[in-house]
Amino acid sequence: MLNFDFYNPTHIVFGKGQLEQLDALTPKNSTVLITYGGGSAKRTGVLAKVKTELAKSDRNVLEFGGIGANPELSVLMGAVDIVRKEKVDFLLAVGGGSVMDGTKFIAIASVADDFIGKERELLNFGFTPVPVEGAVPMGTVLTLPATGSEMNCGAVITDGEDKLPVFSTFTFPKFSILDPELTYTLPVTQVANGVVDTFVHTVEQYVTYPAEARFQDRTAEGILQTLIEIGKKTVEEPENYDARANLVWCATMALNGLIGAGVPQDWNTHMIGHEITALFGIDHAKTLAMVQPAVWKVRKEQKKEKLLQYAERVWGITEGDEETRIDAAISKTEEFFQSLGIKTRLGDHDIGEEGIDRIIESLDKHGMTALSETGDVTLDISRKILQAAL
Ligand code: NZQ
Ligand code: ZN
Repeated sequence: MLNFDFYNPTHIVFGKGQLEQLDALTPKNSTVLITYGGGSAKRTGVLAKVKTELAKSDRNVLEFGGIGANPELSVLMGAVDIVRKEKVDFLLAVGGGSVMDGTKFIAIASVADDFIGKERELLNFGFTPVPVEGAVPMGTVLTLPATGSEMNCGAVITDGEDKLPVFSTFTFPKFSILDPELTYTLPVTQVANGVVDTFVHTVEQYVTYPAEARFQDRTAEGILQTLIEIGKKTVEEPENYDARANLVWCATMALNGLIGAGVPQDWNTHMIGHEITALFGIDHAKTLAMVQPAVWKVRKEQKKEKLLQYAERVWGITEGDEETRIDAAISKTEEFFQSLGIKTRLGDHDIGEEGIDRIIESLDKHGMTALSETGDVTLDISRKILQAAL
């Protein structure tokens, strides 16, 4: 097992009706800014419920809506102005990954005095924590299980054609309320996205090379098997509480640091996927469904031992020689994504060779030239991966 430093201070409150804990969890005698997305929070009534809970104690409650999917820096700056002017003490994100991530950026940018007027530079640090001394504390009310943003300190922020990660230990939510019933209103395609995103977060930290991390491997396999069991059910039966509750908890546990502690991590699929979203506007998870199987096709040799373990323990594939077993596991994965209604080829989204050139240019521009758990995925290999996904 590799050395690790595991820190996760987020308080999770999970289950039916848990929104009623909001008043107790949120600071009193404070100014709270509720952040939300493009309208679903209003439409579904969750925003009204949040406001009712917050009104139970003395606090000044403000709102900032319009944080769309793949949150845009220019939009978020509107909230930063409010936080500075109104001296907001606490941010409450009500939404999915985009709202939670956008709120993390607001939390940092509002108090990052060294970056006033040049907040864009906060996107320049990649996986290194941004050099800030604090952030406005925040909490979340989750409405879309997928990203794990509710229990991690990362965010992905878009600035035009740049979609870049931002990390800071100050942006772990103080609390997150995870009520699976608040996700019943999701469109089917967003639920399928959530299953795929969770699946790919898990394999990015598991299908690498062996590190004798038995607990992490078996926990990752547990998440994957759970997703295979409940994935289709939770897409087809949106109000099946148990299926949805399992998705919500898997999504949170897949990216809160637990399964990634002490193991090599890949993130090749995500880095290529982010470029595809920035250039073509395709949902995050849908990009992953195209790239992940292709990464395995091209990186079979480097990932051989873990792909064989994945084939046997997750899919029960034990027949045939090694190559046959690996190929079968890759096919099973693609079929699983397709069974959720998610397409797995670039061509399905009208992306061809010319599109690949643009993706490679963006990877180059963003310094994504040494990807994977071993840092040996060059732009040439990324091109091969994309060609395998055509
Ligand atoms: O904007 P509104 O109107 O609220 O609608 C949203 C949005 O259109 C809608 N929605 C959310 N909850 C709903 C709902 N509609 C009906 N009922 C509800 N209960 O769903 C749409 C998608 O929402 P979004 O937040 O964009 O989706 P997701 O949670 O998949 O987040 C994607 C973003 O997270 C980033 C992605 O790159 C992308 O920008 N990621 C963040 C990560 C992290 N912080 O750790 C890791 C991930 O790998 C990912 O990169
Ligand atoms: Zn993801």
